Amino acid sequence: MLAREKLGGDILDMALASYAHGDLVKAGSLFRAVLQHDSANPIANHQLGLMAFAEGDSDSAEKYLHRAAAANPLDADYHNNLGVVLHARENHAGARTAFENAIAQNPDFAQAFNNLGAALAALGEDEPAIRAYRRALQIDPGYIEARDNLDLACAGVAPLWHFPMMADAVRNDAYDQALRRAAPGKRVLDIGAGSGLLAMMAARAGAAAVTTCEAVPAIAAAAREIIERNGFSESIALHAKRSDQLKIGREMWARANVLVTETFSSGLLSEGVLPTIEHAREHLLTPDAVVIPKRAAARGYLIGGATIEAQAYASHAAGFDLSSFNLFASSKFGLHLDRLPHEILSDDFEIFSFDLNESHFPAERKLISVLPRQSGRCVGVAQWLKLDLDAETTYENRPAADAGANGWMHVVYRFPEPIELKAGQEVHLIASHTRTDMTVALAPQSLIV
Ligand SMILES: C[S@@+](CC[C@H](N)C(=O)[O-])C[C@H]1O[C@@H](n2cnc3c(N)ncnc32)[C@H](O)[C@@H]1O
Repeated sequence: MLAREKLGGDILDMALASYAHGDLVKAGSLFRAVLQHDSANPIANHQLGLMAFAEGDSDSAEKYLHRAAAANPLDADYHNNLGVVLHARENHAGARTAFENAIAQNPDFAQAFNNLGAALAALGEDEPAIRAYRRALQIDPGYIEARDNLDLACAGVAPLWHFPMMADAVRNDAYDQALRRAAPGKRVLDIGAGSGLLAMMAARAGAAAVTTCEAVPAIAAAAREIIERNGFSESIALHAKRSDQLKIGREMWARANVLVTETFSSGLLSEGVLPTIEHAREHLLTPDAVVIPKRAAARGYLIGGATIEAQAYASHAAGFDLSSFNLFASSKFGLHLDRLPHEILSDDFEIFSFDLNESHFPAERKLISVLPRQSGRCVGVAQWLKLDLDAETTYENRPAADAGANGWMHVVYRFPEPIELKAGQEVHLIASHTRTDMTVALAPQSLIV
């Protein structure tokens, strides 16, 4: 028996030497020979697992690495490498366990924390994933992969626009003013808590009760901390749920008589504000409830100018014709027009406007005729938002050179190619919305009467 062990040990040394010299074929056959003497040998199983994985044979890699980790459960690397293979095979729950086992053996294993973050993110556990990436960076602040993963995970949970949105003092003041008028003594429902800002405004204004809900659990957790830090835990009930998961008698003891929401995308509708309000009106609000904002509109003007045209269409560059690239151009795109030079070729016009105190918001399609106020080349329609918070306060993000911080972009609905406008000659547009998306285009001749 002793002789067999000695033989196995010698072969293992030779296998490791071959591996170190890059002779993988010889190393592989020697590691396999070791397993003939000692099938549980952790070193040989581990090396064969790594080699199989490198060759794309993840079946064998998983089998060998399982054996290595079982034979020597105190080795963090074995668990970590097993986790990498399981993650690649989309067994994210198994990978998570393997990375947790690695961390249990080595609590300062930055790579295992980063890998654990990736497994948790794949399992949809955003907050724990973010914590795991943060821990990896705490252990190794120069760990670029963990930094990138953390940034990606954070942006996936809370897109970057949240920051300029929270800093938009004009928007915030508009909501605050309307809530100071509407909230005192009322039961307020805030849909889409974000940081909890509007719910705290309602509570500060003297609401009798405030309920808020947030669809993204990690954002809801941050809102809970913010509400507590600002001393409003007692007066605000926060639910980490979509509004259509709230029930009277469960999350809310009575229907609300004020609804406040800021669930407007740059294009107005794609955060689902219309179905959200329809649901709230039917299930969560009193019949006489007031909605803030009372009206939301998408407004626009015809836009042109060399800078915006260059952004909208591929043309010529450095003496070459690049126009075939327009094949990939989108019919709408978002950008901040505030500081982008452009020509305003028409008066402002309404694209769609919604009375948010209505109960139903059917899809619509309509023709809009616009009279250009000057001749010029037009690339499409620039669109922005107008929110009438109540009868007294309006917020509008019409492009303006002196605009401050703002979370919304402007949307340009781009014509297939620039058109030449003549002052006084009408342009006919077709605007349609599906309740959750909107588009504006040149109307086909067949629709123009
Ligand atoms: C534009 S942010 C506004 C946040 C905050 N109310 C404010 O004004 O600063 C909208 C938030 O609402 C959430 N949300 C959107 N629709 C929702 C719904 N139907 N139920 C719950 N949360 C929703 C989003 O996840 C996002 O965090």
